[in-house]
Amino acid sequence: MHDKIYPVSDDWAKRAQIDEPTYRAMYQRSVADPDGFWAEQAKRIDWIQPFTKVKNTSFAPDNVSIKWFEDGALNVSANCVDRHLAKRGDQVAILWEGDDPTESRSITYRELSEQVNVFANVLKEMGAKKGDRITIYMPMIPETAFAMLACTRIGAVHSVVFGGFSPDSLAGRIQDCDSKLVITADEGLRAGKKIPLKANVDAALAKLGGDVKTLVVQRTFTDIPMQNGRDVFYGDLAKTVSQHCEPEAMNAEDPLFILYTSGSTGKPKGVLHTTGGYLVYASLTHSKVFDYQDGDIYWCTADVGWVTGHSYIVYGPLSNGATTLMFEGVPTYPTNSRFWEVIDKHQVNIFYTAPTAIRALMQAGDEPVKKTSRASLRLLGSVGEPINPEAWEWYHRVVGDDRCPIVDTWWQTETGGILITPLPGAIGQKPGSATLPFFGVQPAIVDGEGKVLEGVAEGNLIITDSWPGQMRSIYGDHARFMETYFSTYKNAYFTGDGCRRDADGYYWITGRVDDVLNVSGHRMGTAEVESALVAHEHVSEAAVVGYPHDIKGQGIYAYVTLMAGAEASDTLRKELVAWVRTEIGPIASPDLIQFAPGLPKTRSGKIMRRILRKIAEGEFGNLGDTSTLADPAVVDDLVANRQNKR
Ligand code: WT7
Repeated sequence: MHDKIYPVSDDWAKRAQIDEPTYRAMYQRSVADPDGFWAEQAKRIDWIQPFTKVKNTSFAPDNVSIKWFEDGALNVSANCVDRHLAKRGDQVAILWEGDDPTESRSITYRELSEQVNVFANVLKEMGAKKGDRITIYMPMIPETAFAMLACTRIGAVHSVVFGGFSPDSLAGRIQDCDSKLVITADEGLRAGKKIPLKANVDAALAKLGGDVKTLVVQRTFTDIPMQNGRDVFYGDLAKTVSQHCEPEAMNAEDPLFILYTSGSTGKPKGVLHTTGGYLVYASLTHSKVFDYQDGDIYWCTADVGWVTGHSYIVYGPLSNGATTLMFEGVPTYPTNSRFWEVIDKHQVNIFYTAPTAIRALMQAGDEPVKKTSRASLRLLGSVGEPINPEAWEWYHRVVGDDRCPIVDTWWQTETGGILITPLPGAIGQKPGSATLPFFGVQPAIVDGEGKVLEGVAEGNLIITDSWPGQMRSIYGDHARFMETYFSTYKNAYFTGDGCRRDADGYYWITGRVDDVLNVSGHRMGTAEVESALVAHEHVSEAAVVGYPHDIKGQGIYAYVTLMAGAEASDTLRKELVAWVRTEIGPIASPDLIQFAPGLPKTRSGKIMRRILRKIAEGEFGNLGDTSTLADPAVVDDLVANRQNKR
């Protein structure tokens, strides 16, 4: 067990907004009197119509209903843009660093305001109105943030789809929320390579038919086919519209955005977040977890296609009047010093990234880091998957020169914002632990039967009461929402994660306990990869599990049974990998494929994944009880033909 503690330094305790006694007192208050606590915190947001009710939530198994600030009205873009103009018009809001190190842009709050107003009017010109769903399939450029904020300005609900998803995945997401407008770019640019975004949209729309329009931002100005009456260049329309768009007054519980995420079964779910609670929570967590103070340069390296980008590149920072850095590229291009060079170039103070990036850069050694200064850094953050203590220590010692605390922030697409994390001026850190709950968050650890375990314990992580940033529903399927999150344990939100609590009350997330994989911080349902595989003409059956991977955290291990007559070969392996990439996207590429004449099934036909996981992990000595298998002999074949980690 790793119990080394990195205490809060005197400097940090003094400068931070919140020290330990303040954290303890505020936390107590937040759970004893949520109405009082959140009514006060919600003042950090400008309300068009003040709320009189605060919390109105029920986790009752068949009647889950979550409402915060329900009679208040506000506008998110007004909070992220307009209200900063008087004091911060000339301050940089978005600092953009291009894929090419010679390219960057600084967008002040005044410019942001101009851009968002025009973008909002362009959306209206395209026929969009309050309540419409708009899909955003964009690269990491400032126009993506303008587009998101423009949606919120007119009360449209955005659904950002990560630019790495395939046309098929994109089509499914456009269809699920019935969106009639897709905002995209001609091409994206990553590590010097072009990503054909508009071509992908064309392919997606070809599958859908119907009346979906596109709005195309030009990033590379490549010649692309435009379909008359369907496709419009953003730049052409922007010239024609008015410069001012009045922000729509939105009810606190009006939908703000949908973000698709993978579950253990079925298609990706449209996680629905609403306006007031989400913004209060994103804003407060961004301010306190990163101890954001005036003038700080803050950089979160996520893609806006994920919730981290929503809450901690766009909404949290901009609602706080921060300077948020947006990076188009990757950590290893042109060299693996890129992150550290960007930190020096823009004098970044707060840096928030993922364990998979840290592990990849750690493998490149200390030199690419050490040749940069990084003197501006004050705080480091980690998100997306458990960080192994070795990577944590390296991040602390080499990147942070032993000077910067690390906030290991645990949360989910569903939670809207960070739930478990140290506050840097309050809580000493243990490498690998997300430490303690944020204000208003009540975690508990339960055993398989749902019994709440006290003190030092290990089991499944649940949250026993609501917080303002919580998702409200699955878009179009409230029954699935209740079933997925509130049926396993009574009157509690089930996270899907395993967790341990130590003697100091610190939480240690141990990873997913369901059939969800976490590959390089990307969430992936085993069922999704399996259904992509069985869609191939030569595949009759597939079972997918995760296995420990040095850099990705988890790798994807696929057991594939072929159709009679199909020949197992390395060529077919490559073909199947390519197939999954086109079906879902590169992030779902299987790392290892094992051709298996049979899969281990119970007599009732259920695949025993426990056994497949053990074999993938190389733990043959420990396969557990195989006597209930219909044909125990399949296990011998699986063990004999196990694929090795590369
Ligand atoms: C899953 C949620 C949180 C935004 C990005 C991912 C894992 C996330 C941590 C962490 C251990 C973590 C969990 C969680 N996870 N952060 N600090 N320590 N595990 O959001 O795609 O919804 O994935 O990521 O397993 O359930 P997501």
